[in-house]
Amino acid sequence: MDRQKTLVGKDIHLAMQFLKRNELVAIPTETVYGLAANALNPEAVIKIFEVKQRPFLDPLIVHVHSIDEIQKYVSYVPIAVYELAKYFSAITYVLPKQDIIPDIVTSGHNTVGIRIPGHPLTLELLQKLDFPLAAPSANPFGYVSPTTAQHVLDSLGGKIPYILDGGTCKIGVESTIITFETEIPTILRLGGTTVETIEEIIGKVDICVQTKTNPDAPGMLDTHYAPRIPLFIDRIPPEYSFEEIGIIAFERYHERVPIHQQFVLSPRGDLSEAARNLFHALRSLDSMPIKAIVAQTFPDQGLGKAINDRLKRASVKRANK
Ligand code: TXA
Ligand code: MG
Repeated sequence: MDRQKTLVGKDIHLAMQFLKRNELVAIPTETVYGLAANALNPEAVIKIFEVKQRPFLDPLIVHVHSIDEIQKYVSYVPIAVYELAKYFSAITYVLPKQDIIPDIVTSGHNTVGIRIPGHPLTLELLQKLDFPLAAPSANPFGYVSPTTAQHVLDSLGGKIPYILDGGTCKIGVESTIITFETEIPTILRLGGTTVETIEEIIGKVDICVQTKTNPDAPGMLDTHYAPRIPLFIDRIPPEYSFEEIGIIAFERYHERVPIHQQFVLSPRGDLSEAARNLFHALRSLDSMPIKAIVAQTFPDQGLGKAINDRLKRASVKRANK
């Protein structure tokens, strides 16, 4: 695509105009920013894969504004989905799709990942449009998801016409993906709504967040969420000096690493606050002249599970590094 000027603003009508013309618009959600196109139009959706350089085997999430809308695009809505949707928005439901959802959106699967995002600007946009929005996270494939309009501009500037600026994402990690295709509902991706919270509402769930060997979560490749520089968990490899590394920690600073190379995600020990700050910390460290990032393991509860999952994926070495 020719380089074009990327506008940033809060103009829902302008966003609508671009989307109606089958162009891409970055949209805010409470989890991360999405890269949106008309989900019912394959020509629009194909642009998402091109701009993100995303493999076609990795299905997209469809965004709608209400549970009634979910009913339009899937053939069956379990009661558990009604229950969860009453309280939480950071959940993507994997349900059997109706034919109106093009195969390119679901990578040929007969299920669709669908969610009702919890951001007022995007909900208003969805209410005004007469089609749903397919939107993966608005980052180049494999890179860290964006949690501000500036993050989107940093990596997709010049490639899309408009970024709808809804401020900093309140949750800061992607939605929890849950499938109802299994006997017991199964979490395929740990995310913004915690396992504990989901179980309080619908009872016991299974968790199956294996990576590239898991056919049910085709997009959960090992290299997701990775910064460019290597990331290590709970250890500083001996080949690096303290000056050469950046730190991601929960509550406390490291004594020997320069302070500006450290991100303490929540000095008061709040995992929600830590999740909100995680991707900004990864992106900031990735742009510094350092050689490696060292992160600690977070408490394995609440949003700590999603944080640990993202750090683990960020720590997997890519073949081309
Ligand atoms: O919070 C979020 O979920 C953000 C915002 C923008 O909604 N979106 C997001 O999308 O993280 P993305 O494309 O980065 O991740 C979508 C993942 C896919 O990689 C795949 O693992 C899963 O959702 N997925 C989508 N459709 C699926 C399906 N039919 N079956 C199984 N997994 C599916
Ligand atoms: Mg993504």
